[in-house]
Amino acid sequence: KFKSLVAKAAEWHELTKEELIYVLQPEDHKERELLFKKADEVRQNYCGSDVHLRGIIEFSNICERNCLYCGLRGDNKRLNRYRIPEEEILEAAAGAYRLGYKTIVLQSGEDSWYTADRLCSIIRKIKEGLDVAITLCVGERTYEDYREFRNAGADRYLLKHETANGALYTRLHPGMSFRARISRLEWLKELGYQVGAGNMVGLPGQTIADLADDILFMKRMDVDMAGIGPFIPHGNTPLGKASGGTLDLTLRVLACARLLMPLVHLPATTAVGTLHPYGREKALQCGANVVMPNITPSRYRKDYEIYPNKICVNEEPERCRGCIQNRISSIGRTVASDYGHSLKLKVRH
Ligand code: SAM
Ligand code: SF4
Ligand code: FES
Repeated sequence: KFKSLVAKAAEWHELTKEELIYVLQPEDHKERELLFKKADEVRQNYCGSDVHLRGIIEFSNICERNCLYCGLRGDNKRLNRYRIPEEEILEAAAGAYRLGYKTIVLQSGEDSWYTADRLCSIIRKIKEGLDVAITLCVGERTYEDYREFRNAGADRYLLKHETANGALYTRLHPGMSFRARISRLEWLKELGYQVGAGNMVGLPGQTIADLADDILFMKRMDVDMAGIGPFIPHGNTPLGKASGGTLDLTLRVLACARLLMPLVHLPATTAVGTLHPYGREKALQCGANVVMPNITPSRYRKDYEIYPNKICVNEEPERCRGCIQNRISSIGRTVASDYGHSLKLKVRH
């Protein structure tokens, strides 16, 4: 049964929720390897050998939210907070461009100091100076803000839905609502962004059925990117004592996501690289086709501590660039030379 369901998913990219729950839980090593192999084949057929690199600048760790899992939550007073001055952000972006990055991701906590004007100024200057695509990942904003960012030149937006289980979402996000999250994803699509959603694997109280819902939710939303990574508990948060996601379960979710969403961009996350020295390579071999190396100036890095033991905290951007190149070559893959826009755009137009 497992084998025929995986074959069906690899061919038709459709499974019912019950079938997906079954496929997410291989019974033995053989079934697990089959799942990973099929996902890798689908990735090869639809995305090829290219791995897209996105250089990420974590430009502010100041956050007004209080997500229970995150080290940047406003109530965590044991964190040295920073905002990187605009000139330094622009230098970091220029440095990344010289290293060959074609996408710059601007990520931060939810920091209202960054008015639309301030953020648009950064976006415009990067777009004027460099031939790159820009992805924003700055949380929930108004429709008007999203429109201004888009007009300033932002190409993509990453807003993870975190979990498709509404009750769990509510528990994890004081003062926020799952409805509001989904409307924003819809707004972003309407505004012509390439949109990324995504979930965490191994959240306290999360079930396999919830993970199946996460995948089906992203498929239904027809997202361009799906950021799937393990939840890693942080000591200075209310979930500090939780157990967190495993590498194995994260890889299974990734593989199933690839089977059901053949054209989606799937990052091998930094979090998966934090769980295991070869976590990112493993992810790239069971469906993933994107890596997001850190290009934050190194003196700020240790303070962007969303979870502990994050990799690359002491490395310079040049070092990460070389490291990732080697890792990609070591598994017989290539670094993409194009912008790495949504693979769905080609199909849509
Ligand atoms: N503030 C913006 C937001 O929440 O969308 C962007 C920055 S936030 C740090 C980026 C992502 O970090 C979140 O979407 C969440 O999935 C992830 N994250 C936060 N805490 C985490 C943890 N303890 N383990 C794994 N991922 C975590
Ligand atoms: Fe803030 Fe984002 Fe962390 Fe939530 S996940 S506390 S919004 S940085
Ligand atoms: Fe940063 Fe390997 S990617 S050191």
